[in-house]
Amino acid sequence: MFASRTDWNLKTNRLTEALEQHKSSGRRLLDLSASNPTECGFKYDAPAIMRSLCAPASLQYQPDPKGLKSARQAVSAYYAEHNERIAIDDLILTASTSEAYSFVFRLLCNPGDELLIPTPGYPLFDFLADVNDVKLVRYPLFYDHGWHIDMHALKQAITPSTQGIIIVHPNNPTGHFAKPEEIAQLNQICSANKMAIIADEVFLDFSFGAPQKSFVANADALTFTMSGISKISGLPQMKFAWLAVSGPENIKREALARLEMIADTYLSLNAPIQLAAPVLLQQRKQFQEQLMSRVRANLAELDAQLAGTRQISRLLVEGGWYAVLRIPATRTDEELALELLEKLDVYLHPGHYYDFPGDRYLVVSLIAPERDFHEGIGRILSAV
Ligand SMILES: Cc1ncc(COP(=O)(O)O)c(C=O)c1O
Repeated sequence: MFASRTDWNLKTNRLTEALEQHKSSGRRLLDLSASNPTECGFKYDAPAIMRSLCAPASLQYQPDPKGLKSARQAVSAYYAEHNERIAIDDLILTASTSEAYSFVFRLLCNPGDELLIPTPGYPLFDFLADVNDVKLVRYPLFYDHGWHIDMHALKQAITPSTQGIIIVHPNNPTGHFAKPEEIAQLNQICSANKMAIIADEVFLDFSFGAPQKSFVANADALTFTMSGISKISGLPQMKFAWLAVSGPENIKREALARLEMIADTYLSLNAPIQLAAPVLLQQRKQFQEQLMSRVRANLAELDAQLAGTRQISRLLVEGGWYAVLRIPATRTDEELALELLEKLDVYLHPGHYYDFPGDRYLVVSLIAPERDFHEGIGRILSAV
């Protein structure tokens, strides 16, 4: 009865089952996989957020496939604060970054066409690709005093069916940004092969060093830059994101006209959220301040605890919400994660969730509440 694109293995794995059991046991859980900012103890300006959702203009239906102008202006103003100019005509609003991906996949790919995607990386994209009949082909990142794109392997992965390259800036969970020389090469590869760049910048603002440059005005190849308030303002429940199109003028216009049609088919954004967008985007200031202070404190705690051991090290991280730990491969990363959960009440993601090679990696969330993080890392060290 069902389309083969939905032939997924939907069985829960051992670790997820163990997590369910742990939750029902009522025991305290130190969740070092925490990624939901609304459950991590950050303070939100609740009155301002609630007020922003009550604009009387919500009672009027004014469909615009690209999204309400006032909301697109707020997004453009966000980039202006990054010293980037993006015209509101080059922006399309979506309910989530995932929806923005879907629009771009539908725009670029016929069934079976390919997109290159970094590995290790975030696992959500496999399902998105399946739903859109797109084949994802991995290009490796390698670690050598920091993460780099293996440009040689990336070029080897290109086939006549390759329609674009996905770049996550900074990548989840490796936390590295694309470097200017890598961006220049990506532009050159994409324009020479008539391919697009798809830049996912949901974590752009969470740089531990100097602010990093956005792809939003990248003009040397057709570029789709996406982000949203789910990470930027820590408001994933609000469902407000966007897609910015840049590149050589003619191809950019054509892409925008087609995307506008795709967006018009769904008109998925509701009026209250679009009217609230300027306030919700403004909320990022106080959210990011708290988040960065949490992440810095957790990283310092991690380093302090790791200073006492040679067994585990952490990989360099430039931004984002996660850290990657390198551990001795004495058992599978899944077995270790299970033991940590069942015996020590610590939950984290084993590296294979993100396609790290071998059993030598664990991923920990740096946004977990500081006390949980402190205790959780201590217990991990006692077990490895
Ligand atoms: C790299 C990356 N892109 C996109 C998303 C999804 O974002 P959204 O909530 O806007 O769909 C996530 C969610 O964790 C992510 O890590």
